Amino acid sequence: MPDFEVKDPKLAPKGALQIEWALMHMPVLSQIKRRFEKEKPLRGTKLGACLHVTKETAVLMDTFIAAGANIALCGSNPLSTQDEVAAALADKGVNVYAWRGQTNEEYYLCVNKVVGHSPDITLDDGADLVSTVHSKKIRAIAKIKGGTEETTTGVLRLRQMEKSGALKYPIIAVNDAYTKYMFDNRYGTGQSTLDGILRATNILLAGKTFVVCGYGWCGRGLANRARGMGANVIVTEINPTRALEAVMDGFRVMPIAQAAETGDVFVTLTGDTSIIRKEHMQKMKNGAILANSGHFNVEIKIPDLEPLAVSKRTIRPNLDEYTLKDGRKLYLLGEGRLINLAAAEGHPSEVMDMSFANQALCVEYLAKNPRLEPRVHNVPKEIDESVASLKLKAIGAEIDTLTSEQKKYLSSWEEGTI
Ligand SMILES: NC(=O)c1ccc[n+]([C@@H]2O[C@H](COP(=O)([O-])OP(=O)(O)OC[C@H]3O[C@@H](n4cnc5c(N)ncnc54)[C@H](O)[C@@H]3O)[C@@H](O)[C@H]2O)c1
Repeated sequence: MPDFEVKDPKLAPKGALQIEWALMHMPVLSQIKRRFEKEKPLRGTKLGACLHVTKETAVLMDTFIAAGANIALCGSNPLSTQDEVAAALADKGVNVYAWRGQTNEEYYLCVNKVVGHSPDITLDDGADLVSTVHSKKIRAIAKIKGGTEETTTGVLRLRQMEKSGALKYPIIAVNDAYTKYMFDNRYGTGQSTLDGILRATNILLAGKTFVVCGYGWCGRGLANRARGMGANVIVTEINPTRALEAVMDGFRVMPIAQAAETGDVFVTLTGDTSIIRKEHMQKMKNGAILANSGHFNVEIKIPDLEPLAVSKRTIRPNLDEYTLKDGRKLYLLGEGRLINLAAAEGHPSEVMDMSFANQALCVEYLAKNPRLEPRVHNVPKEIDESVASLKLKAIGAEIDTLTSEQKKYLSSWEEGTI
C-alpha cells in the first residue's frame, strides 16, 4: 500500500482521464515506456521526485513504474499541484505528498517525506530536494547514486553547490539538453505563460503594452508569442548580448524603471530576484497586471507591494487586486508564483514529452552508471540526439543523412575555393 497525502483520493478517476489525454500527446515517452516494460532497467530502484505534479509528470511516473521503480513524489511548488492527478498517482501506487495551495511549512514537510523514503536517485525541479538532502538529511546521501535537475534555476543552484564543494552526488542537468531548453523553456513557457495570464484575467492582449523581463529561453518564447497576439512588447535585460538580440528581433528594450511607466502587463522570467520592486510599482499605471513565470516567487517583490497597498481583495481565482494609497490598483496574478502552473496547466504535453524523455533516459543512465563524479553533468549527447530523433519520427518528419562524399568533405581541409 502506498503512503500518500493528497487533497481528495476520490478525484482519482478524473485524474486518470487527464493522464490518458497527456499520454496521447507524449509519443516519445510512450516508446520509452514500452522498452522499460520489457527491460525493467529500474527494478528495485527507489526514486525520490520533487516535480510539479501535473498530468505530464504522471506519465513520467507511469514510465518509471513500468521500469520497475518504486516512487515517492512531492510537488515542486506550493501552487502547481493538480489535485486530481495527485489522487490518480496515489491510486497507481505512487507515494505522493502533494496538494494545491500548500503553506511553506507543508511544502517542506512533503519534501522531507520524500527524503524519508531513502531514494537511490533524486529528480528535482528547482533543487529543493537536493538542497534539503544536503542541508538536513546527511545520512540519506550515502545511498544516493545521483539525481537529475529539470530547470534553469535548479541548475544554477547546483552549479553553486558544486563550486563551493557542497555537492555530494552527481546530478545530470536535464534542463541543459538541447531537446529540453530549446523547446520546453521557449515554446512551452511561451505558450503556457500566456495561457495562465489569460485564464486568470481573460484580457485582450492585442494593443496592450506587454513587458517581458528577461530575454532568455523563456523570455524569447513569451515575447514572440505575445507579439503574435498583437501586443506591443517591451523587453528588459541586464545582459547586453541578449538585449541586442531582442532589439534585432524587433522589440523595444529599456530599463524596468522606464518600462514601469508604460506597461499594461509585466511578466518576469529571469531566474533572478527583485526584478519588479517598490520604485517600479510606484510608477505603474492604474490597472497594471503583474505576473511571474520564473521558478521562484521572488521576481516580483511582494513584500514591497503589501505595504504600498491600503486594501487587497481577490477578484477571481489567481487575480489579487491591490489598491494603493493614491487610489491606483495593481493586479498580482497567482501570488507571484509561476503563472503557467498556478493559473493554467503548465507546459503542453508535446514539449513535456521531450523534457521527460530526457528525464527517463537520464535516470536509466544514472542507474547503469552509479559511479559518476559528484558534480553537475551534461545530458549525454546520445540521449539528447535520440530524443530529437524519436520526436521527429513521432511527428512524421524525415531528415537527410550524409552521403559518403559529404562525410569525406566535412572531415577534410584540402578542398577550398574552386
Ligand atoms: N514557468 C515555467 O514553466 C518555466 C519553465 C522553464 C524555466 N523556468 C524558469 O524561468 C526562469 C528563466 O529561465 P530561462 O531558461 O529563460 O533562463 P535564461 O538564463 O535563459 O534567461 C534568463 C534571462 O534573464 C536575464 N536577467 C537576469 N537578471 C535580470 C534582471 N535583473 N533584469 C532583466 N533580465 C534579467 C538574464 O540575463 C537572462 O537573459 C528560471 O527561473 C527557470 O527556472 C520556468
